[in-house]
Amino acid sequence: MDAISQQEAELKWMEAGNVFTPGSPVSTRDLFAGRRDQLQEIMGAISQRGYHAVLYGERGVGKTSLSNILVTILGAMPQASLIGRVNCDAGDTFSSIWHKALRDISFTNPQRGIGFNAADTVAHTPVSATLPTVVQPDDIRRTLSDLSRHARVLIILDEYDRIVDRQVATLVSDTIKALSDFGVDATVLIIGVADTIDDLIEGHQSIERAVVQIPMPRMSDEEIAEILDTGVSKLGMQMDGGARAHLVHLTQGLPYVAHLLGLHTTRVALQGHARTITRSHADQGIQRSLEQWQQSIRTAYVDAIRSPQPVNLFKEVLLACALAETDELGYFSASSIRAPLKQITGRLLDIPSFARHLKEFSTEGRGGIIERVGTARKLRYRFTSPLMRPYIIMRGYDDGLLK
Ligand SMILES: Nc1ncnc2c1ncn2[C@@H]1O[C@H](COP(=O)(O)OP(=O)(O)O)[C@@H](O)[C@H]1O
Ligand SMILES: [Mg+2]
Repeated sequence: MDAISQQEAELKWMEAGNVFTPGSPVSTRDLFAGRRDQLQEIMGAISQRGYHAVLYGERGVGKTSLSNILVTILGAMPQASLIGRVNCDAGDTFSSIWHKALRDISFTNPQRGIGFNAADTVAHTPVSATLPTVVQPDDIRRTLSDLSRHARVLIILDEYDRIVDRQVATLVSDTIKALSDFGVDATVLIIGVADTIDDLIEGHQSIERAVVQIPMPRMSDEEIAEILDTGVSKLGMQMDGGARAHLVHLTQGLPYVAHLLGLHTTRVALQGHARTITRSHADQGIQRSLEQWQQSIRTAYVDAIRSPQPVNLFKEVLLACALAETDELGYFSASSIRAPLKQITGRLLDIPSFARHLKEFSTEGRGGIIERVGTARKLRYRFTSPLMRPYIIMRGYDDGLLK
């Protein structure tokens, strides 16, 4: 009963593109895996007057998805919610942020029909239309205070790290402080890519007591397995244990990678009319995922390992970097490369034999694939993009450098 008809396979092949979505955040609860603690912490901030929240972490760990689910949960509650959300960009000012945030929230005024038999109408005025062109924190404090008399108010400022103008951050902090001091029952949720809250919110000490800080870590193996299992079972398929374990291991806790692998592995199985996904489907799925990976990552990889010498170590050293043990922020040291490099090349090479490669990886000539921090005696390295490490490791398996 494992084989699937041609017609059913074609249908499922299409449907796979809806359950595995490497290109977009999740917005429905049934496709959303894990993240229960983080959701609960944000809900806690929303339910308490005077509290706000900051959600931060690496790119692609699922911050936007989490905020989408939050909106869904609030929408299903008996008490009405007014939610404004903004994707900040480099050119935003304090005023433009609030005009965008309040554009989709309206004041509603019933208007009596004029004349005999005329129907009553409802006029919707976007709240943003009531703001001055140049907005000050106090305008926001008043406006949100008015709105919060009618419903729960949540303002989501996503991609906050993209804002260039330093002054914006100060004004947003002032706003949060004012909302909190006046006990306004509205919540601001700031979301951005950052290692620490200091990187995201300038002078956050002044609002420390009013914000709940929620770091968004990579996913656990269980959460990644949940993404794969949920998608596969929605398609009426299953994945055997060996295939699942291999894929989970390769994702390195990144849900983007789980969706990419899930999509291609499922489609490989469907092309073979199989209902159960096996390790061999997974291996072919990995190969296709490598081809579909973000273009920028593939280009950066090629630039990084390019060399005029036919025999060179760039590919091997880069793979060893991807396998090196890191601290919780993703940094590794030169000495931590030795062990994986031995595993790859079969030779024990010492730091001087790969120091040049390591140094070059952080130069423009090799696309700055790795960043360097610290001083001469204590240099630490990290991949500039979190999606680079899993890509390199999968290439390693595909090229036969790793077993
Ligand atoms: N909890 C989750 N369950 C299932 N898929 C998720 C989850 N979180 C994120 N994803 C997937 O991971 C990818 C990146 O998510 P996204 O929310 O855009 O991350 P971020 O905003 O942190 O950059 C998307 O493909 C999204 O569908
Ligand atoms: Mg996002």
